[in-house]
Amino acid sequence: MAIPDHPSRPTELAHLLLQGHLSEGDLVIDATAGNGHDTVFLARCVGASGRVLAFDVQRAAIDSSRRLVASANVSAKVELFQESHSNLLTHVSPGTVAAIMFNLGYLPGADQSIITTTSETLIALNAALRVLRPGGWLCVVCYPGHEGGGEEASAVESWMSAQDGELRVARYGMIGTLRPAPFLLLAVKCCAGLTNRKSGG
Ligand SMILES: C[S@@+](CC[C@H](N)C(=O)[O-])C[C@H]1O[C@@H](n2cnc3c(N)ncnc32)[C@H](O)[C@@H]1O
Repeated sequence: MAIPDHPSRPTELAHLLLQGHLSEGDLVIDATAGNGHDTVFLARCVGASGRVLAFDVQRAAIDSSRRLVASANVSAKVELFQESHSNLLTHVSPGTVAAIMFNLGYLPGADQSIITTTSETLIALNAALRVLRPGGWLCVVCYPGHEGGGEEASAVESWMSAQDGELRVARYGMIGTLRPAPFLLLAVKCCAGLTNRKSGG
C-alpha cells in the first residue's frame, strides 16, 4: 500500500499499521463488517491460508460485504456472521486471534439509527481481549462527532485505560478540527517481554 502524504483518516492509518503486523495464515476478526472494505483489506493481509471472521447486525451490511468479498476473490477465507460482535466468543477460541478491527458508528449510506452502542461495544471489547493472542492487536476507530458517538468513544477510551497490564494503547487523531474528529485506538495485548509501561517511551 502506498503511504499517503498525510494519513488523516483513522481507517487508512489502521490499514497502514495493520499490514505491517499481519502475516500469512493469521486468524483475524472484522467486528463491524459494514460494506466489507475492512474485511477485504484484512483478507488480503493474511494470505491464502489465513481466515477472516466478520460480524454485522444488519442484513444489508452482510449482503454488501459478501458482494465486495466475492468481487475481490477472497470468499474462500472469509466467514460472514449476521450477529452482534458481542457473540464473537462463541465462534473463536481464546488466545488465537492476531488482530481485531472495530470501525464504530453506522453503515455509510444506510439507516443511521442502526449504530454501534456503548453497551454492546464494551461486551465485545471484553470478548476481543480474551480471543486475542499475546502480542495481538486491537484496533478501534471511534467517531465522537455523531449523536451517541462521543459517549461511546469516551467509554472505549476509559475501558482501554482500565486494562492495566493487559494492553498497551496508543491514540491517533487530528487536532484543531471544527467537529470532534474520528480517532484510532490501537492496543497491543501484552505478553512476556511486552509490558504496559505507564512511563511512556
Ligand atoms: C462504520 S460501519 C463499518 C464499516 C466497515 N468496516 C467497512 O469497511 O465498510 C459500522 C457497522 O457496525 C455495524 N454494527 C452496529 N452494531 C453492531 C453490533 N452490535 N455488532 C456488529 N456490527 C454492528 C453497523 O451495522 C455498521 O454496518
